[in-house]
Amino acid sequence: MTYESVQIRKLTGGCGAEILGVDLKAMSNRQWDEVQHAFREHGVVFFRDQKLTPEQHIAFARRWAPIDVNRFFTAAKGYPEIAEVRKEPQQKTNIGGGWHTDHSYDPEPAMGSILLARELPEEGGDTLFANMYRAYETLSPGLQRTLEGMRAVHGSAHIFGAKGVHKDNPESASRYGNQHLVGDDVLHPVVIRHPLSGRKSLYVNPGFTLRFEDWTAEDSRPLLEYLYRHATRPEFTCRFRWGKGSIALWDNRATWHYAANDYHGERRLMHRITVSGCALQPATA
Ligand code: SIN
Repeated sequence: MTYESVQIRKLTGGCGAEILGVDLKAMSNRQWDEVQHAFREHGVVFFRDQKLTPEQHIAFARRWAPIDVNRFFTAAKGYPEIAEVRKEPQQKTNIGGGWHTDHSYDPEPAMGSILLARELPEEGGDTLFANMYRAYETLSPGLQRTLEGMRAVHGSAHIFGAKGVHKDNPESASRYGNQHLVGDDVLHPVVIRHPLSGRKSLYVNPGFTLRFEDWTAEDSRPLLEYLYRHATRPEFTCRFRWGKGSIALWDNRATWHYAANDYHGERRLMHRITVSGCALQPATA
């Protein structure tokens, strides 16, 4: 597709693109088509200076798919559809401070996430993204074939459950709840056929993947750790510097993300909406 109604500026050779010249609350049909195309092409896209109310943020999300409300995050006041990603000046830990992809613990993981910057620190608080198409495509053919025949177990209990990592962190109490809504672990193909692009994408992540199917966690660890190191090679990543009103829209089946925690003493408040996805099919299907 030739972009005629928006401009595309790639962030790096490996991941992400900024979309310029569009107001997300007043898009023409042509702009909407091109934004969707850029999202499919780049996996994560960025917009700047968007003056969206919470209602307009919700309306933009609904253009993509029904909203998949995150059951663990604290919602923005009055907006159950919007998850708050907040770090207060006195807090030391942040949300999302490790490579992950959202909702891989669900049987039908969220298609995308739309993160809008409301309050930012003077410096820092960037978000990094990694491209899982490139991660897969740059593995050796033998490893690609091996992984294509495998599935992995994903879960959320170790993070959001009653005995999860947040249980001893007093900063987590105001951020997360509903520990009882941790579901059963789920299985996904390790390499998926991406439902929108048709491309093969690596679908394991350090946040929520527990092990390979029929392998113990201990057996799985060396190969998972190899894949995690490989997938986060600088050549496959980009780093987004936020401004007030910036939006990042990422595809959870094509990218990972990581929220840098380098702004102690300052407040950062983001609004995140996740939109529904589908069951994931293996690359071989
Ligand atoms: C997230 O992990 O969804 C939050 C990312 C961020 O705050 O930059």
